[in-house]
Amino acid sequence: MSKKPVVIRSIAEMRNARQSSTGKVGFVPTMGYLHEGHLSLVKAAKQKSNIVVVSIYVNPTQFGPNEDLGSYPRDFDKDISLLTELAVDYVFFPTNEMMYPKSYKSWVIVDDLTEVLCGKSRKNHFRGVTTIVTKLMNIIDPDFMFMGEKDFQQLKVLQQMGSDLNFRTEIIGCPLIRENDGLAMSSRNKYLNTEQRKRALCLYKSLLLARKMFKDGICDVDNIAAEMRNLIENNDGRIDYIEVIDPNTLQSQQKAEKNSRIVLAVFIGNTRLIDNMNISD
Ligand code: PAF
Repeated sequence: MSKKPVVIRSIAEMRNARQSSTGKVGFVPTMGYLHEGHLSLVKAAKQKSNIVVVSIYVNPTQFGPNEDLGSYPRDFDKDISLLTELAVDYVFFPTNEMMYPKSYKSWVIVDDLTEVLCGKSRKNHFRGVTTIVTKLMNIIDPDFMFMGEKDFQQLKVLQQMGSDLNFRTEIIGCPLIRENDGLAMSSRNKYLNTEQRKRALCLYKSLLLARKMFKDGICDVDNIAAEMRNLIENNDGRIDYIEVIDPNTLQSQQKAEKNSRIVLAVFIGNTRLIDNMNISD
């Protein structure tokens, strides 16, 4: 049954709607331009909650000065029609002035986990994410928050923050969703032209290759990463990082283990794509 969500544009109204909601509240934070990956989070939220809130907010503080804040894709009307089909209750759609007024001075920082992988090349990115998610959780006060494993590091950082700062919200990780050919779904895939879209498949293929090597008994990470690197560079991908990590600490490993996660970030043209996979999936 479809139902148009109530679009809320002020913090006070969002708090009121939350206070008058009965039962469990599930929350899906997004930057909009929704795809099946986001919709899978909404579906998970619907299964576990009585009321579902989705936020749509392109958070400026998680973008670096030379990143794509200005061109980040947006399509509010399409987002609302997708959320209508899933009968989402509320869409929280705040403005920059509301979230970061001129007098704004506070930040939430998680150590260590934010200093590796994407944190190395995207300075202050995670500070922006942890800060906006804290603000959204304070306003919406959800019982559950649903996040995709595509942003594996983001999920771990937010779970660490939730536990360290005693948030009552349970942060639930949901599986990464892929296109039919294996490309991880991302709003940024829109930046790829036809030729780049084909080359972008090298991320997924390199993960499959790593998984196969591990299955064949190869645990040496230098060896695995060298093969992945070859495959990606043959497709003109520019590698930011390829690592095999402990999924809990995010620390790099030299020998892959059963639950290791292979994580990578690669530029295809100017578009930075990330992907990851459990090495034994
Ligand atoms: O994953 C995203 O889309 C964003 O980082 C999030 C969690 C909505 C915070 O802006």
